[in-house]
Amino acid sequence: MTPEGNVRLELDDIQSGVLRPRPTPYVATYIVLRIDDRNAGRELMRRVTQVVTSAANPSSPMADTWVSVALTYHGLKALGVPQNSLDSFAWEFQQGMAARAKELGDTGESSPENWERPLGTRDVHLVLVAVSPNDQQLEDVLDPARKAYREMRGIEAIWRQDCHALPTETEPFGFRDGISHPAIEGSGIAGTNPREQPLKAGEFVLGYPDELGGIQRIQPEELGRNGTYAVFRKLHQRVAAFRQFLKANSTDPADEELLAAKMMGRWRSGAPLALCPFQDDAELGADKRRNNDFLYEEDDPAGFKTPGGSHIRRTNPRDGSVAGVVRLHRMIRRGTAYGPVLPGGVLEDDGADRGLMFAFVGAHLGRQFEFVQSQWINDGVFFGAGDAQDPIVGSNDGAGSFTVPRRPVRRRLQGLHRFVITRGGEYCFMPGLRAMRWLADLQT
Ligand code: HEM
Repeated sequence: MTPEGNVRLELDDIQSGVLRPRPTPYVATYIVLRIDDRNAGRELMRRVTQVVTSAANPSSPMADTWVSVALTYHGLKALGVPQNSLDSFAWEFQQGMAARAKELGDTGESSPENWERPLGTRDVHLVLVAVSPNDQQLEDVLDPARKAYREMRGIEAIWRQDCHALPTETEPFGFRDGISHPAIEGSGIAGTNPREQPLKAGEFVLGYPDELGGIQRIQPEELGRNGTYAVFRKLHQRVAAFRQFLKANSTDPADEELLAAKMMGRWRSGAPLALCPFQDDAELGADKRRNNDFLYEEDDPAGFKTPGGSHIRRTNPRDGSVAGVVRLHRMIRRGTAYGPVLPGGVLEDDGADRGLMFAFVGAHLGRQFEFVQSQWINDGVFFGAGDAQDPIVGSNDGAGSFTVPRRPVRRRLQGLHRFVITRGGEYCFMPGLRAMRWLADLQT
């Protein structure tokens, strides 16, 4: 029995990108490839296997550059994975993200007809993500990789998105991101909330017991073991519209900052309202030992500090009393900003594309990613707020509302618009390292 429970994860077989937090700051690139020829696809898997590091490696063999690989349902099919094996994958994964648009709130401007091509089509087969401390180091790895797949007939690079994390990890609306991460039994990698009991390994990696005692398995065992599901979503952020909303609903700049914090649940520095409800505390925001050390129920059951409808309390209600079991809906997140920063104070949209490449990692697409997106972000019933959506990332249509609990009377904001638009995304499978070799060696 280890101090973290009796499960030992096979870290040397799990892709590093599943468990290890990224370095800060960093630059990253998403590359989407289409496999037109299964033998070329298998050769690509063989080559990629040589550059993907396992979670057991504290350092990367490629000068701090980390590569992850993920495949879609159509990607596995293009490699020639047998149908009985394809049928054993999660139902949502088999459908793909575009087919789940209604459930995810990807409607109107966010609907798949309006996505960037080829996202949402059957052409998206393999996704490579490379993360590096700076542009030069990233190019040093990408350059030979690009040459390699350009020379390979039957493999086509069809989409690329560059992104970055600033030293402050600030996302385009101006809040520090990347603070809250779950602890995972047997991973040896600490979570950031010392008050959260580590989650069962099977919540995040296939082939291990999960919180319900079940084990997610894929056929054959070699393909599923130590793999997991990953979701990526390109989320455009309407930064100017968000700033205009704050201004229109506040009396002065300090009031704007308070409203922004009430919507997020944290001040822009990352300091949580739970620990400093009246004003920002930059030192606390940057202090990794303290900035995620809190719960809600005992201190703030009614949300006078952190509103139940704020982004962080919705997406992880911690011990707060809500319908359902919070531990069944946790996730690993890897959000990375893209596009130019909108300079401070600018209230007019400059037309630039900026936002977040949102990434989810977890073993349960349905009860983790889809549940949080549909029930906690795009609905409010779970904490008694009717159909009120997340004020920052919800698919509000101009009629959205947000309630700030206050004494003597609560404040209710009306007329919320959509500040985040989906530009595309996909459901992927991140195989373990042995499974990557299994895919490369397919014979049919
Ligand atoms: C453009 C869209 C988004 C932005 C700008 C955004 C921003 C943020 C920020 C600033 C935080 C606080 C930092 C932290 O706790 O690490 C956060 C936390 C979080 N977000 Fe988002 N987010 C976005 C989309 C999403 C989506 C789509 C989901 C889930 C489907 C999500 C799930 C979470 C979760 C689970 C947390 C941690 C909450 C906690 O543990 O307290 N976010 N987000």
